[in-house]
Amino acid sequence: MSKKRENHPQWSSWLLFVLAATGSAIGLGNIWKFPYIAGQNGGSAFVLVYLACVLGMGIPMLMAETLIGRRGRLNPIDCMEVVAEEAGANPHWRWLGGMGILLGFLILTYYSVIAGWTIAYIFKTAAGVFLGKGASEVGYLFAQFIASPWQLIFWHSIFMLATMAIVARGVQGGLEKAVELLTPALFILLLILVGYAMSAGDFQRGVRFLFYPDFGRFSGESLLMAMGHAFFSLSIGMGAMMIYGSYLPGNVSIAKTSLIIAVADTSVALLAGVAIFPLVFANHLEPATGPGLIFQTLPLAFAQMPLGSLFGALFFVLLAFAALSSSISLIEPAVAWLMEDFGLTRPVACLVSGFGCWLIGLGTVFSFNRWSHLTLFDKTFFDLLDFLTSNLMLPISGMLLVVFAGWVMQPEVNRAELSTSPCLFRLWWLLSRYVAPATVGLILLNGIGVL
Ligand code: TRP
Repeated sequence: MSKKRENHPQWSSWLLFVLAATGSAIGLGNIWKFPYIAGQNGGSAFVLVYLACVLGMGIPMLMAETLIGRRGRLNPIDCMEVVAEEAGANPHWRWLGGMGILLGFLILTYYSVIAGWTIAYIFKTAAGVFLGKGASEVGYLFAQFIASPWQLIFWHSIFMLATMAIVARGVQGGLEKAVELLTPALFILLLILVGYAMSAGDFQRGVRFLFYPDFGRFSGESLLMAMGHAFFSLSIGMGAMMIYGSYLPGNVSIAKTSLIIAVADTSVALLAGVAIFPLVFANHLEPATGPGLIFQTLPLAFAQMPLGSLFGALFFVLLAFAALSSSISLIEPAVAWLMEDFGLTRPVACLVSGFGCWLIGLGTVFSFNRWSHLTLFDKTFFDLLDFLTSNLMLPISGMLLVVFAGWVMQPEVNRAELSTSPCLFRLWWLLSRYVAPATVGLILLNGIGVL
């Protein structure tokens, strides 16, 4: 293990870690997924439960995962093994690392397809395809786009290639460069969009939909989705934060960095909601439209805004980059594992894992067209994959990780890694030992009951 560890890289500064981890957290989950699932689950009640999950479970778990990573300083499988051995526990905990690697890989298969849509929309908005069009025409153009498997395959391939090209350059050459500029730029453009929604959209109704508590359309499944999405959005439960934590220099306070990441991630999701729902209502669209929601509302807004084609194209460029800084963290654990345990070079490891993702991604492509009639439990291939990975597997593996940090690792080790005040440490300790695992367990049981 120590030989492997010698080759294990490090971030050049704590700020780069924060940017990379924030880049991983902020992505399609915030801007594409959060608004559409909030819309499907009645808005405000979903948002409230989501926020509670971020606070009560997400943040302690983010800390737990990062600290396991920094303690082990290896890919998730080996990392779990050495940290378990250090604590005198069973080395089979490594399987949990393996489950994480598999999960990241599976999520990337469909993440890449949706990210491909955002790249396609850069060109469509820049070319002025939506200018002068109304809501129904924009909706029709979207439906036509996803009905064509070839177009989706093309953009999915471009996104996968871009991801692998960055990951192949390694931590300092590829990942760091990509995240420095893009995350702040996305934030600013989102603020501009909120400004637009305030002036041109039905702002009051949008904000009421998001924040005025109404449990009318909130079900047991919504509860499961709100929790799953808190995990998905913070990138926890699969080893992405573990691998980023493993590249983190030793003297940085994990408590502090985790808080910054969680606050940034949550604000972007809320801003996206505040930008999108006023436009949804002003254009008489249905909030429960589903995965096409932002692709049917934002082009409308850009079509009416001065310099809309420019702003629109810029927005989709930044969204595609936000997706890239997330996708690299989904595949990095698999790549690090292939390198450290099979001796592959970084480019070969990228090629192997990237091709696998691309291939399975075709299932998601077809679920929007050729296979859209093939359903199981009323869900298409994409719906099922998304549901299984984010709503079941992420919470299960996140729960096991936090149990590992809270119950298996020594408290002194945790205290040293988190380096925070005794009071905050106690709070983390309580949340990770009791509150977070118990709540995940209850919500999962409840969710299985209602399915
Ligand atoms: N958090 C990212 C988003 O919101 C997606 C993501 C990146 C992710 N890495 C992850 C989700 C790890 C779960 C686990 O778009």
